[in-house]
Amino acid sequence: MRIEPFRMERWQSTYENEVEINLSDSGVSPMTIGELVSEAGVPELMSHRLVYTQSNGTRPLREAIAGLYEGATEANVEATNGGAEANFVAAWTIVQPGDEVVMQIPNYMQLWGMLRGVGAEVKPWKLLPDHEAGDWSSDMDELESLVGPKTKMICLCNPNNPAGSIMDAEALDRVAAIAAKHDAWVLVDEIYHGTEQDGSPTPTMWGRHDKVVITNSFSKTYGLPGLRLGWILAPADTIADCWSQHDYITIGPGSLSNDLGIFALSGEVRARILERTKALLTHNLDLTMSWVDADPHLKAIRPKAGAYLMMEYDHEMSSSELAERLRVEKDLLLVPGDHFGMDGWLRVGYGEDTDLLERGLARIHELLETF
Ligand SMILES: Cc1ncc(COP(=O)(O)O)c(C=O)c1O
Repeated sequence: MRIEPFRMERWQSTYENEVEINLSDSGVSPMTIGELVSEAGVPELMSHRLVYTQSNGTRPLREAIAGLYEGATEANVEATNGGAEANFVAAWTIVQPGDEVVMQIPNYMQLWGMLRGVGAEVKPWKLLPDHEAGDWSSDMDELESLVGPKTKMICLCNPNNPAGSIMDAEALDRVAAIAAKHDAWVLVDEIYHGTEQDGSPTPTMWGRHDKVVITNSFSKTYGLPGLRLGWILAPADTIADCWSQHDYITIGPGSLSNDLGIFALSGEVRARILERTKALLTHNLDLTMSWVDADPHLKAIRPKAGAYLMMEYDHEMSSSELAERLRVEKDLLLVPGDHFGMDGWLRVGYGEDTDLLERGLARIHELLETF
């Protein structure tokens, strides 16, 4: 199997730790271990033995994750190395060469490339910007026409990366009904749950259809990408299959990450982390939207969730060229829209510390005003 390059991750992997200002990330500013565990947790951390941990995640971790979803038990959970591995293992386990997959686009393009590499036919289901309505929309009738007897899976990202839009419960039920009609799976990457601007949690797909897979991780909402810890939530027999496929990849997550993940989900700590995320994202989005609104050559649909904003510009330059000029001339990294099939747009991450974000926006402005 040969997978096409994952353009956005190649771009980020190559440059994100080299530039002075990185606004290409889609999560909130990462926490330090000290912020996460506080002084009280240090002795426990010091005595942690770096074992091969239970390879599907320890029972307390799986129970803590299952506790986030109504009706789920630890048998519905497998811990993975980040959301990326969760997506990979789940899709690799379920989708076979020759299957059809319908995928919401734009999206985090991992499954797009990976499933094409597996030999599946991946059909885009468009999520379109509507500046007048101030939201993104997709056509359910179009989905209905794309899904058929050969469809193995429908892939969504909700809240969506890069749009920052949210599918509500009614829309999810409609997708579930379309999938049920053709006995197809629905995989929903819910990694941005908990980043909603209005504070009301995005409805989960879990429980709406028998064949549902949810993927998620600690990387975005929790500000802990360095843990490389994520999870798959699925029916118990599918989780057992995923676990056995996982043996061939990374075996299991790191033991320290496993235990820090349990810590992050414990009631009081989780509440504290989510509060930090909300405060940062609310403040930073207001600031970023005001900055966009002040430039007549830019426009953006105010995201409902996520830690990034898609911004359309009217300069005569491709988004890759513009992003490259910002990198070379301003030592700053953004994601060009054409990595999502949306040339003429840029994705700006606003989850960083506010002073870094402000400096970054000022640098983008410096370049744009020379056009
Ligand atoms: C929608 C989505 N899923 C998965 C991932 C990968 O997550 P992780 O860093 O937890 O592997 C990302 C990272 O940007 C993402 O945006």
